[in-house]
Amino acid sequence: MTTLVIGARGSVGRHVLDRLRTAGEPVRASVRDPAAAGLPPGVPVVAADLAAPETLTAALTGVRQVFLYATPAGTAAFTKAACDAGVEHVVLLSSGSVLLPSAHGNATAEHHRDVERTLGESGLRWTPIRPLVLANNALGWAASARAEGVVRLLCPEARTAPVHELDIAAVAVAALLEPGTGGVSELLTGGELISQRRQVQLLAEAAGRPLRVEELSASQAQQHFERFQPPEIATSIVDFITAAARGESPNTGTARRVLGREPLSFARWAADHAASFA
Ligand SMILES: NC(=O)c1ccc[n+]([C@@H]2O[C@H](COP(=O)([O-])OP(=O)(O)OC[C@H]3O[C@@H](n4cnc5c(N)ncnc54)[C@H](OP(=O)(O)O)[C@@H]3O)[C@@H](O)[C@H]2O)c1
Repeated sequence: MTTLVIGARGSVGRHVLDRLRTAGEPVRASVRDPAAAGLPPGVPVVAADLAAPETLTAALTGVRQVFLYATPAGTAAFTKAACDAGVEHVVLLSSGSVLLPSAHGNATAEHHRDVERTLGESGLRWTPIRPLVLANNALGWAASARAEGVVRLLCPEARTAPVHELDIAAVAVAALLEPGTGGVSELLTGGELISQRRQVQLLAEAAGRPLRVEELSASQAQQHFERFQPPEIATSIVDFITAAARGESPNTGTARRVLGREPLSFARWAADHAASFA
């Protein structure tokens, strides 16, 4: 029976799709705009938007499992459609922030808690995957790195353990294909605590060009993040980085335990994404 990958163009979703195909699993990819899908030939693609419940029934017909992004507005309609379609298991890309007591009231954590609550109340069998910091966040530095050779940072010495999207996808696929795998819902990090300044150095090395760090105050960072995010999410990012600067961002062994190997390093992520910074 088929696994539906919702958000199959997403940085994690795309790798989930690839890994399922490599494993020989029947897959269906859902995207909001099939014209822009750009997925490998031969992958069945359906149009589905979690914010448009009428699109979900066809996408879910004949589906046994789903990989799902956390979209609060659409989750209740999704769970109803999934129950009606007889879906047996949902693997949700959630966030490790839901496990941090210090993140109570934090908008990003509450957004993911809302989605987890809806799934928990749905009667569906579901498994959350809970990465804390996506290495992909560094893509937010790419535009100024390319244009000016500058990366503007709040608390450059703040250390987090960013996790490569390939490892998040691998944990999600373990949850989909090997339901007995322990620990898949524990707080997921990369393998090393690494400062933002060191991440920029690794990106400079990978891209083969110098990159300069300019430090932002908390209020400058708030303004900066509000250019891309709602104010409460910008505040949650500022709070998270400030807490990391106080040494409060954890590093866990979840990826190592689930995958049976070392997590991919930030240096590897930098090499994989060097073109975005060159
Ligand atoms: N940033 C962090 O440090 C962090 C930490 C913990 C957890 N997370 C979680 O990770 C997610 C980001 O993962 P990513 O990098 O793979 O994201 P991404 O590359 O931005 O992809 C997001 C995907 O979500 C799909 N999507 C969004 N709204 C949708 C809707 N209404 N209906 C159907 N599909 C929808 C998009 O589909 P289309 O392709 O059709 O547009 C897209 O494929 C965050 O949203 C968050 O939940 C992030």
